[in-house]
Order: sequence, then structure tokens, then C-alpha cells
Amino acid sequence: MLFSLEGLRGFITGGAGGMGIRTAIAFAKQGADVIIADVREDGIKSSLDIIKKETGKTVDYIVCDLSNIEKTKTLFDEAESKFGPIDILVNNAGAIDPNHGTLLENHTEEQLDRIMNVNFKAPFFLSKSAVKSMSRRGFGRIINISSIAAFKGEPGHANYSASKGALLTLTKTIAIEYVKKGITANCIAPGAIESRMTAALTDAIKKELEDAIPMGCMGNGDDIAAAVTYLASKEARYVTGQTIHVNGGWLIA
Ligand SMILES: NC(=O)c1ccc[n+]([C@@H]2O[C@H](COP(=O)([O-])OP(=O)(O)OC[C@H]3O[C@@H](n4cnc5c(N)ncnc54)[C@H](O)[C@@H]3O)[C@@H](O)[C@H]2O)c1
Repeated sequence: MLFSLEGLRGFITGGAGGMGIRTAIAFAKQGADVIIADVREDGIKSSLDIIKKETGKTVDYIVCDLSNIEKTKTLFDEAESKFGPIDILVNNAGAIDPNHGTLLENHTEEQLDRIMNVNFKAPFFLSKSAVKSMSRRGFGRIINISSIAAFKGEPGHANYSASKGALLTLTKTIAIEYVKKGITANCIAPGAIESRMTAALTDAIKKELEDAIPMGCMGNGDDIAAAVTYLASKEARYVTGQTIHVNGGWLIA
């Protein structure tokens, strides 16, 4: 099977969300053992039901708040001691300020810290634990879910776009530092994707987005899951420090 994940274990943060659940399903279908982590226990429970229904498989899970950085520092090791060695880390959980965000001049430090903690510091410390463990086994995949916002900027969301930009440079650095250890590190930069995060957008904003996207529609979780699965697979062994843009052509419009 092309892009088989047989014999590998994946750890996906934000596994109760739109892209996380579709990635968990794709991983399970390709033969991986899967652990999902999320702050919303009810969301995890419904993800487990959907994954079971679509794949016949049971996945493991951890309830965690990634904004609690002290606890996040030990989360990866905790997951490995509970479930076994992790070969693929997908830093997918993400947070954005609700509504239309805040102009930079009105951003508070609290807003900056809240978004940076979940979107950047948590992936930083999870990756730090992951590279140590993966290096010992000589194989690993780190896939960070960045955003088109890291490339275009996102008015009203300076904290969010900066956090996603920081994730890009972290990824490139991991790629270079650990290339000889059998670890690859790559990013996905989604455009506008239907999920819980975008569900609150008004019809007018959705229409604006669709008009701006050359393909004329938003993407979905499966569009992202396919790219993550490729990067996680052994076939992607020669790809590191890169970003796959999944955005219906929006970035080049
Ligand atoms: N939807 C889009 O248009 C879009 C575009 C670009 C990038 N992204 C990124 O894609 C990733 C997935 O987002 P999504 O669209 O599936 O959104 P989503 O809201 O459906 O999923 C995000 C998940 O992260 C979890 N999460 C948030 N804060 C957490 C915390 N403190 N601890 C643990 N879990 C936490 C949420 O509970 C949620 O289940 C995010 O990193 C997001 O920034 C999304």
C-alpha cells in the first residue's frame, strides 16, 4: 500500500477538532496506531465514536490543556510511557481569538501569550521531547500545522499569524538539526478549511473567502489529512524542512 503507516504510532494534538479527527481517521486507515490529545473531553469522546465507525479501530487518547506549558513539557513522555514509542508527532491543535480579532494597537499581552502558548510553545516542547525519543530509534516524523496566515499575514490576528510563522522557522530548524537522526520535520499551511474553527464565520465572510480562493470553495479536513499522511509515510523520506500549501490556490491569487 502506498503511504502505509503500518507499524507506526502517531500522536495527534487537537484530535477532537476538524482536521485532527480526519487525520486520525486517515492514519488508522493506513495502519497506524493513533493517540489523540485535546482539551475537550466531550470532543474526544465523539471523535472516538466517529473513528470507530469509519475505521473499525479504537484509538488511545489523552485529555490535556496545551496552554499549561509546565504540563505540556512532560506530555509526550507521558504518552509514550502509557502507549509505547511514538513515531509521528502531529502538532495540529491551534487556537485563534474569536470574532474578528484585534488590531495590533489593541492587542494585550494576555492575548499574545494565550495564542503563542497553544500554537507555538506547546509544539516547541512536544517536539523537544519527540526528537530525543525519535533520535534513539533513528526514525521520526514531525508535522506542524501552520497556516496561510504565516505567509499572507492575517489582519486582526497578529498573535495568530506570528505564532504560525514561528512554527515554520522552528520546523526548518528541527529539520536541519535532526536530519542525520532519521527525523523529518515539515509543515502544512492550510488555507480556509471547514472546521470548528471556521464554523463561526458569518455567511458574508465565507462568501468573501470563496470569492478570493481560485477554486471557489473552502477545503475540508480530508484535504489536510491526505497531505499529513503523505509527510508521515516512509515514502516522504526525502522531504524535510518544507511546507505543503493546501489552499485551493489562494496563496497565489
Ligand atoms: N480551519 C482553518 O481554516 C485553518 C486554517 C489554517 C490553519 N489552521 C490550523 O489548523 C489546525 C487545526 O484546526 P481546525 O481547523 O481543525 O480547528 P478546530 O477548532 O476544529 O480544531 C482545533 C483543536 O485544537 C484543540 N485545542 C485548542 N486549544 C487547545 C488546548 N489549549 N489544549 C489542547 N487542545 C486544544 C481544540 O479543542 C480543537 O479540537 C490549527 O492549528 C489551526 O490553527 C486552520
